[in-house]
Amino acid sequence: MSVTLEVIRKMQVIRLGLIGSGFMGRTHALAAHSVGLVFPSTAKLECELLADCDSQAAAENAGLLGFRRSTGDWRELVTDPQVDVVDICTPNHLHYPMAKAALENGKHVFCEKPLALLPEESRELAALAAARDCVTMVGFNYVKNPVITLAADLIERGEIGQLRHVRGTHVEDYLADPLREGGWRTQQSLAGLGALGDLCHVLSLTQRLVGEPGAVCADFQTVIPERPDGPVENEDQVHALLRFDCGAIGTIECSRIAWGRKNGLTLEISGSEGTLYFDQERQNELWLYRADGDERQGFRRILLGPDQPDYAAFCPAPGHGLGFNDLKVIEMRDLVAAIVLETPAWPDFAAAARIDAVTAAMAESYHRSGWVNVNRAATEDSEAQ
Ligand SMILES: NC(=O)c1ccc[n+]([C@@H]2O[C@H](COP(=O)([O-])OP(=O)(O)OC[C@H]3O[C@@H](n4cnc5c(N)ncnc54)[C@H](O)[C@@H]3O)[C@@H](O)[C@H]2O)c1
Repeated sequence: MSVTLEVIRKMQVIRLGLIGSGFMGRTHALAAHSVGLVFPSTAKLECELLADCDSQAAAENAGLLGFRRSTGDWRELVTDPQVDVVDICTPNHLHYPMAKAALENGKHVFCEKPLALLPEESRELAALAAARDCVTMVGFNYVKNPVITLAADLIERGEIGQLRHVRGTHVEDYLADPLREGGWRTQQSLAGLGALGDLCHVLSLTQRLVGEPGAVCADFQTVIPERPDGPVENEDQVHALLRFDCGAIGTIECSRIAWGRKNGLTLEISGSEGTLYFDQERQNELWLYRADGDERQGFRRILLGPDQPDYAAFCPAPGHGLGFNDLKVIEMRDLVAAIVLETPAWPDFAAAARIDAVTAAMAESYHRSGWVNVNRAATEDSEAQ
């Protein structure tokens, strides 16, 4: 399922150009420095160039994050001949122009989610990447959790039978306090969607485990219309009904105002033979209920251990646990492996464009007050490795 770098025999140096050094920029830098230690390989990822808003911030952050050079202009980074991969960790509205320019210059691109503000922009980027033969990946890190890989294996082996129902949430409380500034996240021109755009990770989990939804019906709400830094221009909470191609139906909730929920990314999938349950706040556990035994047995907790190769790479002892940053290291491993092996990475721009098509359909559904079919044109050709 996932690629291991041990099979790589080709010596290769891959030079990373990182744009943005906020929350995600630091996380990506940490992953770039760690990946060679956790997953020994003949491929070497080097932190070459860092771009930020201005040259002073870029120089300071390049020093802190261990990059050789810095620039205050991202356009220099995407054309720099010493950069092989452009890694985009900026606010959402910059993803499209940066990724487009990087692809046009023949760079591989790792971009944070969501891929773009508009579904047609995402589709255009996916088509451009395919035409240029560039490796692309989007930062849906939670699908890299070995627990999710295990869940996919169990589903594939038929352990919970035919999939019938999906209940997904990604609820947090980072904007529950009305006195908290929204920053770029509450401005439509910078963020696009609100809670749904930020927390669309739940759709990457359903994409991995259940497949694509063909139709959606959603409700959006902005609960706190004004914050200290200005009006709130996108939604605080969303819920939606989904009809999946596999026949299952389901619900999705996203909220940035759910007090007490810090990373409430959960997924419960019920099938004809049992149910799987996952909660990111307890990311080392998968819960399985099988209908073939004594019904009083309840759910069985499967604790992540070294029998999962991506866990073993970090730790030989079971139950010690992986964390959020470890998922970013696994993600970076998959990116490096795809570049060296000249295979597609996953989730690539095509997969991310399909997620953007689902969120756009949800927004349209809310505005039209009814069911909307998801427009998946030109984004059908990638699948999980
Ligand atoms: N995968 C995840 O779990 C996850 C988590 C948080 C954020 N994200 C995504 O990561 C992206 C960044 O989010 P963040 O929380 O790191 O934001 P942030 O505000 O913490 O950091 C943004 C960075 O981009 C830089 N930047 C802004 N404009 C720039 C420009 N014109 N040129 C160069 N640099 C520029 C800022 O200076 C800053 O360093 C967003 O798309 C967000 O949706 C993903």
